[in-house]
Amino acid sequence: MKMKKVTALLLASLTALAMTACGGTPTAGDNAGGADNSSAESSSEEGSSSEEESSSEENSSPEDNDSSEGNDGSAEGEGAEASGEAEGSEAGTSADGFTTAVEGKLTMATNAAFPPYEYVEGGQIAGIDAEIAAAVAGKLGLELQIDDMEFDSITEAVKSGKADIGLAGMTITPDRQEEVDFTISYATGVQVIIVAEDSPITNVDDLSAEGANYVIGVQRNTTGDIYTTQDIEDAGLGTIDRYSKGADAVQALKTGKVDCVVIDNEPAKAFVNEVEGLKILDTEYITEDYAAAMNKENTALYEAVNNALQELIDDGTIQGILDKYITAE
Ligand code: ARG
Repeated sequence: MKMKKVTALLLASLTALAMTACGGTPTAGDNAGGADNSSAESSSEEGSSSEEESSSEENSSPEDNDSSEGNDGSAEGEGAEASGEAEGSEAGTSADGFTTAVEGKLTMATNAAFPPYEYVEGGQIAGIDAEIAAAVAGKLGLELQIDDMEFDSITEAVKSGKADIGLAGMTITPDRQEEVDFTISYATGVQVIIVAEDSPITNVDDLSAEGANYVIGVQRNTTGDIYTTQDIEDAGLGTIDRYSKGADAVQALKTGKVDCVVIDNEPAKAFVNEVEGLKILDTEYITEDYAAAMNKENTALYEAVNNALQELIDDGTIQGILDKYITAE
């Protein structure tokens, strides 16, 4: 049973990868800055360190024949940049003094399994964060490039400089602030609890009640995971079941493998709309602030992005984007 699940997940991600990898021409081009959406890189995020190796390797593989510099180990050079740019992995310094992972581009790391903030639609990454990033890129005179990856790979992508910003409905937390710098917050999120319609769980306190022992589904390494692990699992009051996607946790709830799912309110609404027999409890686990994660060393880019975000907040652009995807209750 466990194996089956893993295989199914693997297959699903492979399909998604294949879909996005051959996604054709970007449709987000009508956004300011345009979006060169590709998740072709996502496979390389999983533990390969080709950069270090390829520079010293003598025996270059036939595929490398377009790389004249010898140290282009970045996956970006292969799939996503097939559109003609030479060595896309070169960082570039702009007139404004900031450098980006790829010259002329704003590279955004995300996990496009979090509607309405980011999701895959027609082979492209759409959603609030994609539009905000396109608007920021437009202000900076950069083209937007979106790299889809596991949620817990995003901070590493930003830290290593592979990505310029992590934009993924990401909550500002003290632990993450040790790893990355957060921009000003552009939205708020609420951790909510999804249960089956006939669930005995009726509010947040039920989860940590003496002798409760519920199984709680979460997306791995999200704040839903972090808080419930602290409050419930570490306290010996229940178990956390961690999934690579929120939607998979919701499926596990549907099939009775978990008793509830703790996740951000907007994706919760999107998932519950898709699955019969589930509801979101009125009670709230915690309210939090979303911001873009950026490299601590790249202060010039941080300033530029932060200023752009501030302008987009001040002129109502961000609110307009939020309103487009989130309908007020
Ligand atoms: N707000 C939560 C966090 O920062 C969940 C974010 C998940 N985002 C995503 N794109 N999957 O941990």
